[in-house]
Amino acid sequence: MSLPASDLSKQPDMRTTMELGAVLPRTAEVRDGHLFIGGVDMVELAREQGTALYVFDEADVRARMSEYREAFAARYSQSDIIFASKAFINKAMVRIVDEEGLCLDVSGGGELARALATGFPAERVFVHGNNKTPAELEEAMRAGVGRIVVDSRIELARVSEIAGRLGITQDIYMRITPGVEADTHEYIKTGCEDSKFGFTMLNDFAYTCVGTALETPHVRLVGLHCHIGSQIFALHSFREAADVMIDFMARVRDGYGHTITELDLGGGLGIAYAADDQPPSIEEFAEVTCTAVREACARHDLPLPRLLVEPGRSLVANAGVTLYTVGILKTLPGIRKYVAVDGGMSDNIRTALYHADYEPTIANKADQPRTEIVTLCGKHCESGDAVVIDMPLQQADLGDIVCVFGTGAYCYTMASNYNGQPRPGVVFVRDGQARVTTRRETYEDLYAKDL
Ligand code: LLP
Repeated sequence: MSLPASDLSKQPDMRTTMELGAVLPRTAEVRDGHLFIGGVDMVELAREQGTALYVFDEADVRARMSEYREAFAARYSQSDIIFASKAFINKAMVRIVDEEGLCLDVSGGGELARALATGFPAERVFVHGNNKTPAELEEAMRAGVGRIVVDSRIELARVSEIAGRLGITQDIYMRITPGVEADTHEYIKTGCEDSKFGFTMLNDFAYTCVGTALETPHVRLVGLHCHIGSQIFALHSFREAADVMIDFMARVRDGYGHTITELDLGGGLGIAYAADDQPPSIEEFAEVTCTAVREACARHDLPLPRLLVEPGRSLVANAGVTLYTVGILKTLPGIRKYVAVDGGMSDNIRTALYHADYEPTIANKADQPRTEIVTLCGKHCESGDAVVIDMPLQQADLGDIVCVFGTGAYCYTMASNYNGQPRPGVVFVRDGQARVTTRRETYEDLYAKDL
């Protein structure tokens, strides 16, 4: 795979780093030409810790978590915010989620194990996945997780069998595919009809399965769930999903005489990857979803369910950045200018996978305008290995520290060891202090599992 041809007419961007808007972590500032986050000099941090390096603005993450909590609490009687840990997880983040009073979405046994090893309360864990193995289900139930989001009829039977064997009654949600087409990348759409996730509403399948669930022993159907996709800017998609779900809850009440008391509308709120992106705010998202749920319940004379949302990206993406060192410069006249960094598709697969946009800056030249259009390529053996394609950057020199914004979600968790690249470490910065929360992998880590 090679890169799309460079757009040679693209103009440089005379904005300085601090003018890049919503892509910046909230505590970003420039002092004497250096980029600071959390009061820490990114140039010094890169030299101390080495690159590539993931850095999180801890105050920013905490602020977004409390914004979500308060935005829903201010508009709705009973709500919970569940952090989708697939976006980013390490023990430090799990502790923050706990301290900020959020719940945790895990989508497999590994995420669950890490949460439990950190001491996260199992009753605030929500277990997701379209093919949870029997072993994963049993681990979750033995740990006493709060809710299992059941994805299929086969899984319903499995959960019932395991719960019976353990002598418990497991609270479950059913994941419904609401048939709402969200306006986002094909690969991260999930709510439309052709989806491997959830119970389809086609041919009344989901409705019939609710009846089955209500008669299934050892499970208690307390809620419904949907997730229509990710990186969504169009708030009306969330309103449509809420409408469909509440219409469905009303049918369940009328048909089965059963009131569903919890509704989880999933995650998906989009964020700014490019400086000109204007995603809706957390407040706007809360306003649309809470209003939609309230109005739809009023229409059907349904009691308000407990309302839950499951954001991942919008809590952590813009709080995180990746630091790299410039190692090679290569100009192909009339084609493109390459700036090669000491990472790439192993620490950020999103550019190769989705052609994602990212804004870069040079952390040691952060007060200078970005006068060149470059491709930040990685060090991997693939032509498509790029972190940033055709974006403005300051004139780069060897040894410069490049900071790529907006990499806090789905980069570390999708990282690989391709070409034997050890995964970068993760540093949290706050109030002038930097703490390593996950150490950089070593070469020994790469072969420690080999027998
Ligand atoms: N809940 C469920 C059931 C999900 O599947 C997801 C994301 C979320 C919540 C969180 O969605 P968010 O708020 O982060 O949009 N690797 C892709 C994203 C895949 C999202 C998968 N599910 C990317 O890098 O863009």
